[in-house]
Amino acid sequence: MDKQKLIEEIKRLKEEKNAVILAHYYTIGDIQDIADFVGDSLALAQQAAKSTADVIVMCGVHFMGETCKILCPEKKVLVPDLEAGCSLADSCPAEDFGAFVKAHPGYTVLSYVNTTAAVKYYTDIVVTSGNALKIVNSLPKDEKIIFAPDRNLGSYINAVTGREMLLWDGACHVHEQFSTEAILKLKEEHPNAKVLVHPECKRPVVLLADKVGSTAVLLKFAVEDDCQEFIVATESGILHEMMRQAPQKSFIPVPPEVSEGSIGCSCNECAYMRLNTLEKLYNCLQKEAPEIFVDEEIIERAKLPIDRMLELSK
Ligand code: 13P
Ligand code: SF4
Repeated sequence: MDKQKLIEEIKRLKEEKNAVILAHYYTIGDIQDIADFVGDSLALAQQAAKSTADVIVMCGVHFMGETCKILCPEKKVLVPDLEAGCSLADSCPAEDFGAFVKAHPGYTVLSYVNTTAAVKYYTDIVVTSGNALKIVNSLPKDEKIIFAPDRNLGSYINAVTGREMLLWDGACHVHEQFSTEAILKLKEEHPNAKVLVHPECKRPVVLLADKVGSTAVLLKFAVEDDCQEFIVATESGILHEMMRQAPQKSFIPVPPEVSEGSIGCSCNECAYMRLNTLEKLYNCLQKEAPEIFVDEEIIERAKLPIDRMLELSK
């Protein structure tokens, strides 16, 4: 089927099945263009929570599908490709995390939304990069906190708040690759550009930022700020929406590493997010599969920290 026909069929099936298509900013442009809603992980969770559709198609990664299912257990939640995982979520196996939490009684457990439903089972409050700072600041200064799984987001929050949260040693393979060398080289070539950095990047990279924030925060800043040029240190899928909302500005993706004295590659893409294609989206709507299932006991327990997050993000 050609692309135009695929798009028409996806729209037809969506109407027929009363489905809503949600997509993360890191998915390919074609998926973002056809989605009913595109957002960061916080906005996607908020959108799922208020959806009136019978079917939710989550074009993102597996944990996002699980979050939808936990928030809307009565709905059918589909993902175009079940293999769309997340290296950050993988860096925190539920069994190990459960043992870690048990070994630290008296701690409040904060988990980034980039975790499996089984990890959320052990969590008191879920956070996203869009609300983590606000949620941590809402807790008493002397509260003992475990923060998992992203060591970079955790140390960013520790640095900004002066807290000493106990950090799980996990990271995202895409954001960990951005280097200060690559950014400084781009700054030399574009001295007027402002640097936008996702807090999943390493601390030295974050220190070079003019703005640190979730994909939605970086997007808003890029659109509203007077600056005309931005160096973007996050997954390059976000450039699609940045260019759509601010076509007159220029956005320079940071290549993940410096190779032999030159910065040649812009392969700063999340391979999991890129598994979402128009063809798979069409197949999944047509077959109503693959579907996300989460154990009922886990849904019941994992919903509590997600609801707390949504409440605290208002
Ligand atoms: P946000 O959507 O919160 O910016 O997170 C980025 C991310 O890594 C999603 O997988
Ligand atoms: Fe996970 Fe990193 Fe991909 Fe986000 S960009 S889905 S954190 S692997």
